Amino acid sequence: MSNGLENVVAAETVLSDVDGIAGRLVIRGLPLALIAGHMSAEEVTALLWQDFFEGLPRDLARPIARARVFVWEALSPHVASVADLSLFDGLRALMARLPDGNALDDALNLVAAPAVLLPALLRQQRGLRPIAPDADLGQAADMLRMLDGRDAERARVAALDAYLVTVADHGLNASTFAARVVASTGAGLTSSVLAALGALKGPLHGGAPGPVLDMLDAVGSADQADEWIAAELAAGHRLMGFGHRIYRVRDPRADALGAAIERLREAGGGNSERLALAAAVEAAALAALARHKPDRPLATNVEFYTALLLEAVGFPRDAFTPVFAAGRVSGWLAHAREQLATGKLIRPKSTYIGPVPLAA
Ligand code: ACO
Repeated sequence: MSNGLENVVAAETVLSDVDGIAGRLVIRGLPLALIAGHMSAEEVTALLWQDFFEGLPRDLARPIARARVFVWEALSPHVASVADLSLFDGLRALMARLPDGNALDDALNLVAAPAVLLPALLRQQRGLRPIAPDADLGQAADMLRMLDGRDAERARVAALDAYLVTVADHGLNASTFAARVVASTGAGLTSSVLAALGALKGPLHGGAPGPVLDMLDAVGSADQADEWIAAELAAGHRLMGFGHRIYRVRDPRADALGAAIERLREAGGGNSERLALAAAVEAAALAALARHKPDRPLATNVEFYTALLLEAVGFPRDAFTPVFAAGRVSGWLAHAREQLATGKLIRPKSTYIGPVPLAA
C-alpha cells in the first residue's frame, strides 16, 4: 500500500518524462528548454497528439482556430447562464455541454474551449460583452484579444504562449491520472477532461497560483518576508508555490517561466517592484523551508512563477487555474488517448481496515 500512490508506476507513456532528481522535463524527446519560448501552443499540441489520432494534420493552428469558432457558436449563448458561478466552475459547466466523443474534432473543441470561454466569462464578470474568436490568429493571441477587445502586444502573446507550452504535459500528475482513469472506462474525451478539471482545481495541484499572490500581498515588503514566513510555518500552514511530489530540486518549469517573465520585462511589461518582492519572498521561503524540513527538500514549483507570469500578462488571480487548464488540456487529451489505446481498465485494489463482521 502506498499512500497517495507515491512512487507507484501506473502507466507507460511516450508523452513526458519528469526527472525529479535531475530537475528535468522532457516532452516527447525534447527538453522543456527547447520547447518553451520556441514552439507555439498549437505546435506542442500537435507534438503531443502525434500517433494518437488518425489523420492528424501536421499543423494544428487552423483546425484549433476553426474549433474556437465552433465553440463560440455552440456555447456563447450559454455564457450568461453561468454568471452566478466562479470562473472555474462556469468554465467547467460550459465545457460539460461539448459532445462527448473520442474523435479528433472532439479533442480540438476541448482544446479551443478554455481559450474562448475564459475571456468570455471574464468579460461577463466585468459587465462587458464577450467577443467572438478570430480564426486568423494563434490561440494565445486570440485569447488575449478576446479578453481585451483589441490586439495584444507581441511580448504578452509570447509570454502567454510560453506559459501554455510549459504546462502542456507533466507525467502522471493528479489531473492527468484522473483523465486516464476516466478514459480507461471507455467514456468520451469530454468526460476525461471534466474529471481532470476537477482534480486541477484543488490548491495542492493547479489551485496554488492565486494563493501565491495572496501570500505576496500579505508579506507586503521584502523586509517582512522572514517574519511572515516563519509565522505561517509555525501555524502549520504550507507555503504555496513550494514543494512537489516528484521534484526534489527546483522545478524546471519555474526556470522556463522565469525566462518568459524576463523577456516580457525587457519588452516593458510586468511590474519590476512585484518581481523584486517575489524574488525576496522566494529566497526567504527556501531558507525557511530548508530549516523547517531539513530531510525533505522543498524547492520552488511551477505555480510560484505561474502566478507572476499570468499577473504580468494581465489575468486576474481567479483566472489562473482556468488558464492552466487551457495549457494542460492538450496533455490530458493525449494521455486519455494513450490510455484508451491500452484497452485496459484502471482499477486498483484497496486494503479493508473497517470492522469485520461477527462470526455467525
Ligand atoms: N510548505 C510547507 N511545508 C510543506 C510544503 C510547503 N509548500 N510542501 C510540503 N510540506 C511538508 C508537508 O507539510 C509534509 O510535512 P509532514 O511530513 O510533517 O506532514 C512534508 O513536507 C511532505 O509533504 P507531503 O504533502 O507529504 O508531500 P507531497 O509530495 O504529497 O506534496 C505538494 C506535494 C502537495 C505539492 C506539497 O509540496 C504542497 O502542498 N505544496 C504547496 C501547494 C503547491 O504549491 N501546489 C502546487 C504544486 S505544483 C502542481 O501541482 C502544478
